[in-house]
Amino acid sequence: MHMIDLRSDTLTQPTEAMLESMREASFGDDSRDGDETVQRLEIMAAQRMGKAAAAYMPSGTMTNLVAVLAHTQRGGEVLLESGAHILNSELGGIAAVAGTFYRGLPGHRGAIDVERLVDAVRMPTRQNFGTALVCMETTHNRAGGAVLPLEEMRAVHKVAADHGVPVHIDGARIFNAASALAADARAIAEHGDSVCFCVSKGLSAPVGSLLCGNADFIERARAFRRMIGGNMRQAGPLAAAGIVALETMVDRLVLDHAAAKRLALGLHAIDASLVSPHEVETNLVKVTLRKEGRDARAWAAELAKHGIRVNPCERHALRFVTHRHIGNADVDAAIAAFADVSRRLNGQQ
Ligand SMILES: Cc1ncc(COP(=O)(O)O)c(C=O)c1O
Repeated sequence: MHMIDLRSDTLTQPTEAMLESMREASFGDDSRDGDETVQRLEIMAAQRMGKAAAAYMPSGTMTNLVAVLAHTQRGGEVLLESGAHILNSELGGIAAVAGTFYRGLPGHRGAIDVERLVDAVRMPTRQNFGTALVCMETTHNRAGGAVLPLEEMRAVHKVAADHGVPVHIDGARIFNAASALAADARAIAEHGDSVCFCVSKGLSAPVGSLLCGNADFIERARAFRRMIGGNMRQAGPLAAAGIVALETMVDRLVLDHAAAKRLALGLHAIDASLVSPHEVETNLVKVTLRKEGRDARAWAAELAKHGIRVNPCERHALRFVTHRHIGNADVDAAIAAFADVSRRLNGQQ
């Protein structure tokens, strides 16, 4: 059976142009004499984020962990919105490896409640090490691809800066956020001392994330990357695909957003409690099954029988992700399958 795979935008395959660029790429040793292609990608990434420097790494998880390592010291406190990917999906590296402890703060659609941040941020005293870092995430994965409003990012940045605390932005999907805001990614990145983004998600490159910041920070980050085993060696071909991703894949993200909206509207028409289409801002569609009282895994298994793969992201929620390989016909098939499963599981058939 042909499967329509809506589990993640990381499933996107490299384009022909990427494959060609990979074949032609340099094979320098990035950690010894440097690699020309990796350096080109890093310069391009830094420019796109409005930062002085960047370092290429294997994953978004690694760029986040290295950012925490490079910004903080053991025992420091990291403040982030309680649904943050760093807190929920990165296996506690921030504690286990970086030795920081963290407090998840309440928020709205992924944006930290600024008043709670003001209450939580602490200066170092003889009794504690103080707040070492504040993190934001946009687009916000657990909040269904929500885009942090720039005003809220500015407010969080100001609170942190007023206390001399650095800010890291987990911008794994920052170009989706920028596209939804019709803004330049730099307008988002300026609210962080560091920012990371992935070329491996909706941008279709096979591997890689970039951590961007000032030159000293990135030098420190390179050492921590090596410490945790992320030295890149002959990464030229991977970086080459990343360059093509930045050059050719950013503008088309609007298509993924339109497909996600179409999906949300179709599911909403089946049952309005499943999803609010106006909350679908980018390429993630979080579908709540609470009314159905069904386990999301059981629901996903039923959809798989109809050729639709989705991710059960919470006990009562499914995550659908649109990407380059999902066209309108796939979206319509997913809606039809959902309607069918819904009828059967609700005993109407
Ligand atoms: C917001 C966010 N940050 C970080 C990551 C981690 O990226 P990776 O899977 O490359 O480690 C993800 C992955 O989905 C993510 O959604």
